This record gives sequence, C-alpha cells and structure tokens, in this order.
Amino acid sequence: MIIRTRRLRGSEILRRMTRETRLSADSLVYPFFIREGKGIVEDLPSLPGQIRYSPDTLSKGVEAALSKGVRSFLLFGIPESKDNNGSGAYDDDGVVQQAIRNVREEFGNDVYLITDVCLCGYTSHGHCGLNDNNKIDNDSTLSLLAKTALSHVRAGCDMAAPSGMMDGSVTTLRAAFDAGGFTDIPIMSYAAKYASSFYGPFRDAAGSAPQFGDRKSYQMDYHNGIEALKRIKKDVDEGADIIIVKPALSYLDIVSKAREQFKVPVAAYSVSGEYAMIKAAAASGFIDEYSAMCESAVGVFRAGADILITYFAKELAEAIQRGHIG
Ligand code: PBG
Repeated sequence: MIIRTRRLRGSEILRRMTRETRLSADSLVYPFFIREGKGIVEDLPSLPGQIRYSPDTLSKGVEAALSKGVRSFLLFGIPESKDNNGSGAYDDDGVVQQAIRNVREEFGNDVYLITDVCLCGYTSHGHCGLNDNNKIDNDSTLSLLAKTALSHVRAGCDMAAPSGMMDGSVTTLRAAFDAGGFTDIPIMSYAAKYASSFYGPFRDAAGSAPQFGDRKSYQMDYHNGIEALKRIKKDVDEGADIIIVKPALSYLDIVSKAREQFKVPVAAYSVSGEYAMIKAAAASGFIDEYSAMCESAVGVFRAGADILITYFAKELAEAIQRGHIG
C-alpha cells in the first residue's frame, strides 16, 4: 500500500488553516536612530530605506510605522558630542530622553517604547563599557548603565534593553528600577549577542565603531552555542523578562534552543547587515527583495522566536496584512 503524504495544499483556505507558523504585526519591533539636533530627516546610506531623525522629527517615523500597524519601537541615540565616560547616555536631557518625551506626548500609550541601554554610541572610544587603559571595565560600567536606564524610564520609556553584554547588567537594572519605584518596567536583555560582522551598517548609522580593538572581549564567539544558553540562563535568573538572540539568521539554532529551554519570550534581532544584505542583493538583481524579506522573517518565527526586531518591520506588517505571510 502506498502511504500518501497529502500536502494540504489543495486549496488556499486549507493551506492557511494548517500553517504552522503565524505572524502578526504585534510581534514586530522597529528600530529608530535618533540624532541630536533639530529638523533632521536624513537617509542612511548603509541602510537603504532607513531614516535618521532628530527628537523633534521622530514622530514622522512613528506615524508612518503606526499606519502599517507597527507599534513597538527600539530607540538608539546619537549624541552631538561623545566623551570618555559616555555621559550623553545618562543625560536627562539627552537625545533619547528628549525623543521619548516627544513621542509619548504625541502618541500616548498607542506606542511601546524600548530603549537600547549601552554606552557605545556615547563614548569617544566607541566601546560599550568604560575604558581603563584600553581594557573594558565591566563593573564600573554597571552603575552608568543603571543611570542611563533610569533616565530613560523617567522620560517615559516602557522597557529597557541592555545591549552591552556587561556581566550583571540585568541584576543592576532590576535593582535600580525596583529601588526607584519602577517595579513594573520589564527588561529585555541582549543575552546572546555575538561578535558579528553583520553589525557593520549599524555602526555607520550610530557612529559607534570601536576606536581601538574589537568587541570580542564582551561579545560572543560564533563557534559557541552552549555558551549562549548559559548566558541566557544567567540573564533569566537575574530577572530578564524577555531575552534577545542577535543576530538572527546565522543563529536560528540558538533561537530554537532558547525557545525550548526557557520560559520567557524570545526575541530575535535581525540586524543591520542582514537587512543591508537583502537590500544590496536585490539592488543588484540577484534576489527578489520582497520574497527574501518574507522568507527570512518567517524562518525566524518558525525557529521559535516570539518577537522579531527588524528594519523591515513596516514592509513585513504590510505583507502580513495582505496575507502573503502569516
Ligand atoms: C549596541 C548595539 C549594536 C547593535 C545593537 N545594539 C552594535 C554593536 O554591538 O556593535 C547592532 C544592531 C544592528 O546591527 O542592527 N551595543
């Protein structure tokens, strides 16, 4: 007897009924780059299609995303001047703090604002932690991360995402929030963040390339997977509410294992290089941008991600709405 594998592709209705992976615009997070200044709306050459705003113009970007159904945003700041201690990061009138206040005033609770908590965009040396004779001083960085996150929360952000891979970040932020009366503010930790060449376009956009050495002393070696699970466990034990695996596409094994092993939502960050790669290949006529975008996003959710942070958020939301994916 032949056992036939009916492929459940008979009709469009049946195909959609039996799909294993479902997507929703609610699961997408859209990153924004905000530069200190006024009236800025500038294209980012390394991230074609992405725009850098200033705190007073960011609402235009938010509006455009909301019109597609994307409501969650991850904010990155680019200060006017940088210094050795990254003081712009924890300035109550800093670029991200201003941006949060403006967007909150205009859109209230229709938007969910997540801030990247790291010093690398604010330090003159471009590293994520304090510089002690060209070495990164993990422990003295922690209090500055707490200061940064607290000033974001006071400005009105909804959630903090420590991204510097400093040990103890989650414990430090949790303690600072709780002590400050912000017990309800969740922490989304970049728990498994690899030292990756796919961050190149981001570093152009945020002006945060390290001025000496690299980030291998605090970001992970891509040969290692168990180490990622160990770091995720540590962050979950410290109180992380959501964990991030970053980048996404080359690390779907980690996404999948994280989903199986931990009882917190798993976010995958499809980083700047993944976006730029699709854009560049499409611009050269090698692949079709829309289908490659859809296929790679669905792959991340199929691997088990609950949340996708992506520069394609608006286009994906539209694809979902049209019924092309999800
Ligand atoms: C800051 C940070 C980086 C990214 C997100 N947060 C840069 C880095 O680690 O070098 C990269 C995001 C992207 O490439 O889209 N630590």
